[in-house]
Amino acid sequence: MDVKKVTTNDLIEMKKKNEKITMLTAYDCLMASQLDESGIDLILVGDSVGNVLLGYKNTIPVTMDEMIHHCKAVTRGVKRAMVIGDMPFMSYQASGEEAVRNAGRFLKESGVEAIKLEGGKEIYSTIELIVGSGIPVMGHLGLTPQSVYKLGGYGVRGQDNEQASKLLEDARGLEKAGVFSIVLEKIPAKLAGKITKQINVPTIGIGAGVDCDGQVLVTHDMLGLFEKFKPKFSKRYGELGKQMKRCYKKYIEEVKSGEFPAREHSY
Ligand code: KIV
Repeated sequence: MDVKKVTTNDLIEMKKKNEKITMLTAYDCLMASQLDESGIDLILVGDSVGNVLLGYKNTIPVTMDEMIHHCKAVTRGVKRAMVIGDMPFMSYQASGEEAVRNAGRFLKESGVEAIKLEGGKEIYSTIELIVGSGIPVMGHLGLTPQSVYKLGGYGVRGQDNEQASKLLEDARGLEKAGVFSIVLEKIPAKLAGKITKQINVPTIGIGAGVDCDGQVLVTHDMLGLFEKFKPKFSKRYGELGKQMKRCYKKYIEEVKSGEFPAREHSY
């Protein structure tokens, strides 16, 4: 039986009904199918794939081809959740035309249903062009990791009045440009609550407090796959990194000692 896909209209309805929206990241088919079967609303194929899976020190080096490769794997595993592809650094900044072409590649080649872009005022016109070509766009404000060198690090954004007013203005501008939702990353909870009240499209928070319309985390962080990386805004729902290492060590021990394979594993 066909499963009904989550749509942008569903998200707007959820905001109206005060029903929280859930989003997690995935970069491969297995994790995506587990998230989908667990009932997640949105799956983001984040450019965080660069740090999380590919070993880059930040998201800057991630390419369109790498993103499309991972998006293809994710969409193969998903029936219900909406899948959103993150446009990588320099795939949308140089010109509107290039941005539309790259956004189109995401939908045509990988099967995602929407794309995400980082930024405010400077990308209103790009968003209008992409939305105008029929592609749903999610915005991303606050800490925008693709601008790490411009921002000077990964600190909390919107803590002074000037930054806070700019964020509020940018959120209104993104809504006007046509986004269906906005990620708010690492901004004070009170400001995120204010933005959430003042716009009609849902906000999805990460390190932005409980008053956002939904929440997103990097799945590898919430599973505790990285033992050392423990950001304040992320909650660990497991300690899978430790557990996996215990499994690897046990396997190595058993192979060395001849305990594995046992009779039941042999033909
Ligand atoms: O790339 C990513 O995973 C993201 C989320 C943290 C929102 O942009």
